[in-house]
Amino acid sequence: MTTQRKRSLSGIKPTGTPHLGNYLGMIEPAIELQDNFDAFYFVADYHALTTVNDPETMRRCVYDITATFLAFGLDPDNAAFFRQSDIPEVTELTWMLSCVTHMGLLQRAHAYKAAKAAGEENEINHGIFSYPVLMASDILIYDSDVVPVGSDQLQHLEMARDMARKFNSAFDGEHLKLPEAKIRDNVATVPGVDGRKMSASYGNVIEPLASPETIKDQVMAIETDSTPLDEPKDPEDSIIVDLYSLVADDADVAEMEDNYRAGGYGYGHAKIELFETIRDHFAPHRERYEELRADEEHLEDVLARGAKRVRPIVNEVMDRVRTAAGLGKAAADLR
Ligand code: ADP
Ligand code: TRP
Repeated sequence: MTTQRKRSLSGIKPTGTPHLGNYLGMIEPAIELQDNFDAFYFVADYHALTTVNDPETMRRCVYDITATFLAFGLDPDNAAFFRQSDIPEVTELTWMLSCVTHMGLLQRAHAYKAAKAAGEENEINHGIFSYPVLMASDILIYDSDVVPVGSDQLQHLEMARDMARKFNSAFDGEHLKLPEAKIRDNVATVPGVDGRKMSASYGNVIEPLASPETIKDQVMAIETDSTPLDEPKDPEDSIIVDLYSLVADDADVAEMEDNYRAGGYGYGHAKIELFETIRDHFAPHRERYEELRADEEHLEDVLARGAKRVRPIVNEVMDRVRTAAGLGKAAADLR
């Protein structure tokens, strides 16, 4: 008897080169699940449209992310990797979910609150306001079971569950499946070089696939206190040790911790060890990335195969929700 595998789904925006937080918090855990789950991962280009207005940038960044996932081991024969906008029905389901979602829920979203705090409320585009509805639609349209993400996405996951419950209760049935977030414990939040959450929008990132020179500059920019080289230092309170423990072997981490406690070991030494570890650990990925990124035709092919693979699930879920809401099926007949 074959048992149906559970489905893992996640998305990532094509904005900027992936950083260590993206890699450890989402990309690596998501790829690991491809062996035991039906894995559906996509580049969230519709989401990026809230901030990206240049078609060339959009196309380039979609390829960057696709090549990144392949370089880190996503197997396109095993997992579906696709463009969000190749499944335009997500925008249709977004509308259906919008009609059962209160403004109050969306006004509580962290990203909207941050945008409001940073500028004029009336100038925030509606896409940013309804971002969590599109994200819920992304998840619910594939009958997803688990969603591997970093902990900053937990609120969005809760909202997606809320919208599924509201839809099911409004239309009286189990039409949409409630997903679970899957967050890797030890890397829930990878710190950036300034100690805040590593994030493209804070400019505090380390990019593992960048050139060794860039990685070195990024690592050297880690903020440290002014404890003199000779004095002992507290490894429990060090961004360098925190990052090192995410990429180095246990024995090497223990050695760095001992060096901290012993004194005579400066932050500069520790940074060099961290830099070299990141440079060497990701060297094969960097090489593979460069090769893959140079062949856009192949990347297009991977994306097209991914979209084809998820298509039957989308048709099934859309038929289900259209029927539940008493909407027409004309679009299905025309497909
Ligand atoms: P950014 O904050 O740089 O814009 P995104 O919001 O595009 O990153 O995040 C893409 C994925 O990477 C999400 O699943 C997110 O939770 C994860 N992620 C981003 N930053 C971190 C971090 N510092 N630590 C752990 N996971 C992260
Ligand atoms: N909002 C996510 C981010 O900023 C990206 C995303 C879009 C996503 N749709 C998704 C993640 C669906 C998981 C599931 O990183």
